[in-house]
Amino acid sequence: MGGLARLEYRGYDSAGLAVVTSDRDRVGMRKKAGKLVNLEKELAGRPLEPATAAIGHTRWATHGAPTDANAHPHLAAHGRLAIIHNGIIENFSALRAELQSEGVEFLSETDTEVAGHLLAREVDRGESLADAMRIITRRLEGAFTLLAVDASEPRTVVGARRNSPLVIGLGEGENFLGSDVVAFIEHTRTALELHQDEVVEITPEGVTITDIAGHTVEREPYHVDWDATAAQKGGFPTFMEKEIHDQPTAVADTLRGRIDEHGRLQLDGGMIHENVLNSIDKIIVVACGTAAYAGLVGRNAIEHWCRIPVEVELAHEFRYRDPVVGVKTLVVAISQSGETMDTIMAVRHAQQQGAPVIAIVNSQGSTIAREADAVLYTRAGPEIAVASTKAFLAQITAMFLLGIYLAELRGNKFPDEIESLLDQLEEIPAKIQRVLDASEPVRALARTMADERTVLFLGRHVGYPVAMEGALKLKELAYIHAEGFPAGELKHGPIALIEEGQPVFIVLPSPRGRESLHSKVISNVQEVRARGARTFVIAEEGDTEAANHAEQVFYVPAAPVLMTPLLSVVPLQLFALELATAKGYDVDQPRNLAKSVTVE
Ligand code: G6P
Repeated sequence: MGGLARLEYRGYDSAGLAVVTSDRDRVGMRKKAGKLVNLEKELAGRPLEPATAAIGHTRWATHGAPTDANAHPHLAAHGRLAIIHNGIIENFSALRAELQSEGVEFLSETDTEVAGHLLAREVDRGESLADAMRIITRRLEGAFTLLAVDASEPRTVVGARRNSPLVIGLGEGENFLGSDVVAFIEHTRTALELHQDEVVEITPEGVTITDIAGHTVEREPYHVDWDATAAQKGGFPTFMEKEIHDQPTAVADTLRGRIDEHGRLQLDGGMIHENVLNSIDKIIVVACGTAAYAGLVGRNAIEHWCRIPVEVELAHEFRYRDPVVGVKTLVVAISQSGETMDTIMAVRHAQQQGAPVIAIVNSQGSTIAREADAVLYTRAGPEIAVASTKAFLAQITAMFLLGIYLAELRGNKFPDEIESLLDQLEEIPAKIQRVLDASEPVRALARTMADERTVLFLGRHVGYPVAMEGALKLKELAYIHAEGFPAGELKHGPIALIEEGQPVFIVLPSPRGRESLHSKVISNVQEVRARGARTFVIAEEGDTEAANHAEQVFYVPAAPVLMTPLLSVVPLQLFALELATAKGYDVDQPRNLAKSVTVE
């Protein structure tokens, strides 16, 4: 159950467990709709026997509503075999019809149950569970991680993966499988990757990996560079609060030891030849959600420092619009989990067009990290709360590092300029800490706004992605309608939304930046205020002008303009956190969301 609790952030509309023991010919199973706590109650009332092998699942519904019946595991072979699944089996209707014509009865509406019955059919024909898994995965289309146990092999769990994540944990006298290492980090920090279309069989004594045809695969384990305490709340009431407070460390760790004595960026894996990076004439960033906003901040920096055009594309839109991508396009995939299916597909599409791909990823050994040509890890540590915070800041930091590196490589900046940029970045963590230490006013404001129906966020230049991220956090955590607009767009439409009492947050550019931009956004503040809006401004310390136009100003320390998002977003994160808390919502597991969306 501990492992399931750690994975609950991936989906929490139902949960279940199946266990096998050597003296039983059926699996023991409990499953319940709703959060894990419902399963815990069920188990307290009807405990399962101690097991020799077990599988467990937390679900984010795709096929079939989140009911007890649709919860995983699913049984087959009259209760002898149990299976769990992440992903979507795309050809499940045809397979279901085939099985039904053979007289198989289905107990749920899920695509998963199809895989269970297919597996049972092979085992009934005399195949071992692992052989049966290899046979059925050849027939399945789509994305899946499947795990199965069979009471006739009570010391074995068999897993398979295609497009969905699965990692192996190597313990002593025990071995583990999980969608993420957090599932077993309490027990072991030694992990093995499972690649595309591989099948794994674990027993307490050993692990066997094969490809789908049954050829054994040898794989070196890796050491997970954080421990179980990093995946705990550390004295904070929620993961979200803890992770917001982790941000100074997340940025500092992402920066640490990156640039060698020649000013060259140290990537964490893979390699793209310098000649290739010198010849690129365009960068396309692909990402989803918060990661895409990090891409937008990075775009401004890279274009400014390197004079290379940068586009930012939502990964799910990318391959469907026939983008112009080739060997001279550097594709940068940003993803906390490294498992977002939309982003994985965008990476594959880019590679098919011959583009080199750099991944900016937080999860070690994840699919995107593995498939990209080079990796720059954000070292934010495990992010458990579903809505992203510290990963966002680490992603922006990694984009800056990439920009600095390309600027150096391509001769856009002198070494002393590079050094000064790095020095400025190194000052950021302490400044984030100052924002955190001074957060009470924005929290107090949030507590008064629990009844708001809509909140608007305005920003310009690098403040625009910050405005969008502020709005996204509020939607995700507090279920309040929120929109982030570029301040310049206001007069072209959104200003019609302003009425008496409408709260508007404005991310004000630094007055030390382009002076005109500061005064233009000040004008925007006045425009909405004149129409009755309540204006709340995020401004740089020392910006005396800001207070003249705002009901309240939240000051953040001064920083180079391009780096200000690392500071200005923090009050907005805290605002959403506090408002959602005031409304009594679960900020770590907001409704309907899953942290890594491993389906398209
Ligand atoms: C989900 C999460 C978002 C996240 C997005 C991208 O939608 O709810 O918070 O920003 O996926 O996730 P990734 O792991 O690729 O950064």
